[in-house]
Amino acid sequence: MAKIFAPIRIIAGALAIAFLIAVAAPASAQQPSSVNPSASSVKEQQLLNALRGSTIDGRVSIPDQKSGTLIQPGGRDWRQWHEVTLRWIGGIAVLGMLALLVIFYLSRGMVKIEGGRSGRTIVRFSAFERFVHWITATCFIILSISGLNITFGKPLLLPLLGPEAFTTWSEMAKYAHNFLSFPFTIGVVLVFLIWIGGNIPNAADIEWFKRGGGIVGNDHPPAGHFNGGQKLIYWIVVLGGGTSAVTGYLLLFPFYGTGISGMQLAEVVHATVGVLFIAAMLGHIYIGSIGMEGAFEAMGEGTVDINWAKQHHSLWLKDETSRGSKTASTRTQPAE
Ligand code: HEM
Repeated sequence: MAKIFAPIRIIAGALAIAFLIAVAAPASAQQPSSVNPSASSVKEQQLLNALRGSTIDGRVSIPDQKSGTLIQPGGRDWRQWHEVTLRWIGGIAVLGMLALLVIFYLSRGMVKIEGGRSGRTIVRFSAFERFVHWITATCFIILSISGLNITFGKPLLLPLLGPEAFTTWSEMAKYAHNFLSFPFTIGVVLVFLIWIGGNIPNAADIEWFKRGGGIVGNDHPPAGHFNGGQKLIYWIVVLGGGTSAVTGYLLLFPFYGTGISGMQLAEVVHATVGVLFIAAMLGHIYIGSIGMEGAFEAMGEGTVDINWAKQHHSLWLKDETSRGSKTASTRTQPAE
């Protein structure tokens, strides 16, 4: 009897082993030969989707624990922002403001001093105030150009300059951006301190805005030392400069204040504030130069014509004359 069952046991055993081998064979061996060669990247994408933004971390035995992060999916969102979204926001803000200013200049022209210059001038800004203004402004312009190079340099300048010249220029611009951040920050702090007194918003500012600030139309609403528009610029500089500085230093000293996702957020804030800040300052530069006769000399020489002061800062002129401020007759009186 045992002899009869022996071959059956051997056959059943062989079949069982064959079944086990078939079931335990690697998955790849079971795939059809028409397998998609990019399937692995599809799986990686599925893995990233499944992770829903969480990082893939491992353990490392070296002191730098950051090196244990293998994948940080947030980096892909950040790259999309940096390569696409930011360029749209920056392009629209900066080019849009330039276009508006050109249209405004062509339709409105320079705001002239009504009745011409009186020939008598009044001191508007001290030498120290002008020094602080120009240090901050010079740093701002270089920070803006070097910052815009980080955002737009690769698509716009690299094809024009070629890799070697673009590398040299970008390296110089990066050093300028890093080092000029310090005098710029000091400048913003000084701007805040020396002009805070004249920049607290009040009822006259609301009236000033309602009447178009004297630049839209030909009205000249009364204003103190600073009008509503200048106060707006002051707060843009203080708050925009402060935000640029805090977020900029988080990027300049990586991993001291925050981790990688914090730095990505800092860059998003820094770049957005940066491009909007540049657009706002283009408006300021326009009004301080070709947009308004007699405005530049306030920061150039420190004095303005009495008629200019009457037209644009009547409350300030009244205050100054009632306080017996010294009027600098640096210009000749017009002929009687
Ligand atoms: C205290 C002041 C500032 C500091 C410490 C600072 C620092 C930095 C740092 C470290 C970066 C990243 C550079 C890189 O990725 O290699 C950066 C980028 C940038 N900064 Fe500043 N910055 C300051 C002020 C400003 C100002 C005033 C502006 C313009 C108004 C500005 C505009 C930009 C722009 C547009 C970028 C490029 C953003 C990007 O495309 O990623 N920055 N800044």
